[in-house]
Amino acid sequence: VVVGRSAVAGDEFLLDDLPGTSGRLDVLVRCVRAALLTSHGLRRDVVVYLVLLGGPRAPRTLRVDGATAKFVRPDERALATLIKKSLATHADEDREGFIEVRPGIAIARGGVDVVLRDAGDRPSYLLEEGATDIRSAALADDAIFFIGDHAGFDDATRAALAARGRTIAVGPVSLHSDDVVTLIANEIDRGRSPR
Ligand SMILES: C[S@@+](CC[C@H](N)C(=O)[O-])C[C@H]1O[C@@H](n2cnc3c(N)ncnc32)[C@H](O)[C@@H]1O
Repeated sequence: VVVGRSAVAGDEFLLDDLPGTSGRLDVLVRCVRAALLTSHGLRRDVVVYLVLLGGPRAPRTLRVDGATAKFVRPDERALATLIKKSLATHADEDREGFIEVRPGIAIARGGVDVVLRDAGDRPSYLLEEGATDIRSAALADDAIFFIGDHAGFDDATRAALAARGRTIAVGPVSLHSDDVVTLIANEIDRGRSPR
């Protein structure tokens, strides 16, 4: 789960200037690639939630389910195009919960609250610089990981997520969100047999 404090919840951004017009949705787009794509493959057992808290249509959450997602490509522009088309829908406006708008991609009104309802009662980890190292935590297979955007979490969200689960770090250096996603995936991969 990546929480975009300023990432726009609608499709009113320019693909030619994604960082400058989307409240840094580009940070979240890179997280989708890092979470779902391997070299020539897609992680079918991963679900990505982008919590979009910027712009007039916020809060909204976009969910990409690796089990059924199609057309997820590694280049940022193609991924941003897929997300832009998905965010253009108004199907979620008068509905509760996630509505699938493309194969494997769904939208819901709401933020972290809607993610927690959808994901159910799983162990959760808040990713934060300076916390206990990830290698000292026995990661549950069905865990939820919460990652901030370029600005990190707001105080209320940080406090709520810290109270819900453990707070862990992927190392001693403050990294970009997508690099944190890669390192978490790598930790999980290392605990599994090669595929
Ligand atoms: C670019 S950092 C945010 C930096 C922001 N200035 C702040 O103070 O929170 C983006 C997110 O990546 C995660 N992150 C970055 N480095 C990390 C680390 N070493 N361990 C765990 N999470 C990290 C955190 O969730 C953070 O909110």
